[in-house]
Amino acid sequence: MADLSIPIETERLRLRPFTIADVDAVHAYHCLDEVARYQYWEPRSRDEVVEEVTKWADGDWDRQAADAIVFAVTLRQSGILIGDMVLLFRDRDARQGEIGFSFNPSHGGKGYATEAARAVLATGFGHFNLHRIFGRCDARNRASWRLMERLGMRREAHFREHALFKGVWDEEFYYAMLAREWTEMDKGGF
Ligand SMILES: CC(C)(COP(=O)(O)OP(=O)(O)OC[C@H]1O[C@@H](n2cnc3c(N)ncnc32)[C@H](O)[C@@H]1OP(=O)(O)O)[C@@H](O)C(=O)NCCC(=O)NCCS
Repeated sequence: MADLSIPIETERLRLRPFTIADVDAVHAYHCLDEVARYQYWEPRSRDEVVEEVTKWADGDWDRQAADAIVFAVTLRQSGILIGDMVLLFRDRDARQGEIGFSFNPSHGGKGYATEAARAVLATGFGHFNLHRIFGRCDARNRASWRLMERLGMRREAHFREHALFKGVWDEEFYYAMLAREWTEMDKGGF
């Protein structure tokens, strides 16, 4: 497999590896209740963000692909960091991947998360030859499932009260897309 070209550029965005210099920009949104609400973590302190970003800031995406790649999503024009996207490699043999995303709400509502997620799907299918990419979210997380619908992912499951999440019954949606569905969508670049 050829090395993944870094950074990944889209019309308005540049997806690049994290560096430790990104800590404050990540803390600016990971500390917010509204960003942490449907995540498996609580609003993060700066020290907790240092710990996370240190794990993400490897720089070698092909090596990280043994486990998960975390992409720093920045605006092409200004270089401002607006969010993070993760591509997790869940099953090597069956070539299953999972996406996750967190964006700074001060840059929400402009389609940036959709644009970044399309680039990550294109990389997962195109570069890493994944067979299926899925995403999970709380059914109450409308912004998250609407994003996956905008991407053309299919709702595959609605797990009802299948777990406790932050002290209440969890309602979870699974969305997914197969490689051939991605090809059929014929996005023609991103
Ligand atoms: C999930 C999340 C990334 C979605 O963010 P978002 O701002 O809704 O998504 P986008 O950046 O793609 O923007 C989409 C909105 O921009 C609008 N938009 C404007 N220009 C657009 C464009 N060029 N392309 C696509 N959408 C565009 C869309 O119509 C949509 O608006 P709407 O919600 O009023 O319909 C964000 O809510 C988030 O980070 N939440 C907190 C973390 C979280 O819960 N993560 C998921 C855990 S499962």
